[in-house]
Parts: sequence; structure tokens; C-alpha cells
Amino acid sequence: MTEIQPTPSNQPTQHEYQQPVEVTNAQATTASQDEKTHFGYSTVDKKEKEKLVAGVFDSVASKYDVMNDVMSAGVHRFWKYYTILAADVRPNMQVLDLASGTCDLAIQMGKKLAGTGSLVASDINESMLNIGKERMTDNGLVKNIDYQLANAESLPFADSRFDLVTMAFGLRNVTNKDQALREIFRVLKPGGKCLVLEFSKPADKLLNSVYDFYSFNILPKMGKLIAKDEESYRYLAESIRMHPDQETLKGLFDEAGFRLTKYQNLSGGIVALHQGIKV
Ligand SMILES: C[S@@+](CC[C@H](N)C(=O)[O-])C[C@H]1O[C@@H](n2cnc3c(N)ncnc32)[C@H](O)[C@@H]1O
Repeated sequence: MTEIQPTPSNQPTQHEYQQPVEVTNAQATTASQDEKTHFGYSTVDKKEKEKLVAGVFDSVASKYDVMNDVMSAGVHRFWKYYTILAADVRPNMQVLDLASGTCDLAIQMGKKLAGTGSLVASDINESMLNIGKERMTDNGLVKNIDYQLANAESLPFADSRFDLVTMAFGLRNVTNKDQALREIFRVLKPGGKCLVLEFSKPADKLLNSVYDFYSFNILPKMGKLIAKDEESYRYLAESIRMHPDQETLKGLFDEAGFRLTKYQNLSGGIVALHQGIKV
């Protein structure tokens, strides 16, 4: 087991949130073409976004796991369980979990590897990954496990190293999603699989409006009550709305070079699991 590699610390920046707005999918994707990007509903310099996201996850890290259970009424465990089934981890596989955070997926995959092959849990944020490392260790997962602080847009791994790359609820926080997908493609072996679990767009209008009401009226209040942090949970709601929808994300997978790309809606499309193969 290696030490977590240090990175320059990112200071949270003061930030004014805007009111919820109607967002088209074109808006959600075009900002990545120039020097500006989205941080929730705000438009910020690309360079600034990484610091703002770091501020959010530094702030929520200690309450992250409890908030996940409360916010989703435990349903995030089902979404992750489904992802683990799709991952089909077998002994001796080389596995990378990106945006691993507190290591929910890494723990389950580590158990399947049972000390064989290798598992790298990687995240850009030290506060989150420190908790992840502690949880992995508490689960007896130490053999052939590494931790790597890294931006998913620029992975410090050799080409064609991994059989499987997973990323749960991380991609929407990444400034250049297309670049991250290209990096995942690069580090996968031919025949390797990429799985991205992320919030998406419910198809049903009624579900969409209930979900909107919940996200913008209840979720930030829960964040205030439990994590003493309303703004980070407003960012969560906004960042979900700004994330590319199912078909657009599938298109980004295709553009990055993946084949046999597909997605599966979970909970009516509140979440989608995208996958692609490097052939
Ligand atoms: C919502 S958490 C998800 C954690 C975990 N995968 C889970 O499903 O519970 C998002 C994680 O993405 C990480 N993250 C944000 N931007 C990133 C980037 N550019 N590269 C790698 N990780 C990033 C954050 O630090 C955070 O730990």
C-alpha cells in the first residue's frame, strides 16, 4: 500500500450562487469548448472550477457518507451495487476507480479482487481520499491497493494498464469531460471496460418536476441541517442539471474512441450507468 501522493492544496473560493434556471443540453456541453465553464449554474473561468469543486468536497468530506444515505434514502447503494455487477471484477484484474472519494466502489471491487491483481483508488481531493483509504483499511483491504491523487483529465498511469476503469458521481465535477474520457480510454487495455455512473435526466415529466422540487427546495436544506453546508448541496443540484444527458454523454464516449457504448437508466433516469469498451 502506498502513501497518498500530495498535490497543491486548493483553497475554497467565495462564490455567489444563482437561482435555478432552465438549462438546455446544448448549454450544458458548449461551455467546455472555450475558456469558460460551468460551476453549477454559474459561468466561471476553467482554471477556477477545479478550486471551487475542491472547496465543495473539502467542505462535505466528513459528512459525505451520511449525506449520501440521507439524500438518496439509501438508494445510492443500489446504484453502486448495480455498477459492481456490471463491472464483473474477477481475480487478477487491474482496476482503477476514479473520483473514488470515500471508496464505496473501491471497497466492493477490492473484496472481489481479494488481494489479487491490483486496485488503484484515485481522486483529486485529499480530504475525500483520506477517508476512502481509512475505510478500505478498516475493511481489511491493504494488499495490492494503491491510492493516487490525480485529476481525471491527466492520469499519471501508463497506456493500456487497466482492465477496468470505474467512475461514480465524479464526471460531472470534471472541467473537461471529453479529456477525462480520452484519458480513461488511453489507460485501458484493448478489450478493457469503462463504467461511468452519474446523475442524468429522468425521461418522465412528472418525475422530473418532483425531482426538481426535491433538489432545489429540500436537498440544500438537508445539507444545511446535517452537513452545515447549504451551498455545496445547491451546487450538487445545479451540477446535476448542467451535466450532459444520457445520449449526449454516450456521444462523448463514442468521440473518445469507445465502442459498444450503451447506458442503462436507473431510478427512471435520475441516474444512468454508461459503459464503453476499448476495442
Ligand atoms: C460525489 S463524489 C463521488 C465519490 C464516490 N465515487 C462515490 O460514488 O461515492 C465526487 C468525487 O469526485 C472527485 N473529483 C472532482 N473533480 C475531479 C477530477 N477532476 N478528477 C478526479 N476526481 C475528481 C471529488 O474530489 C469527489 O471525491
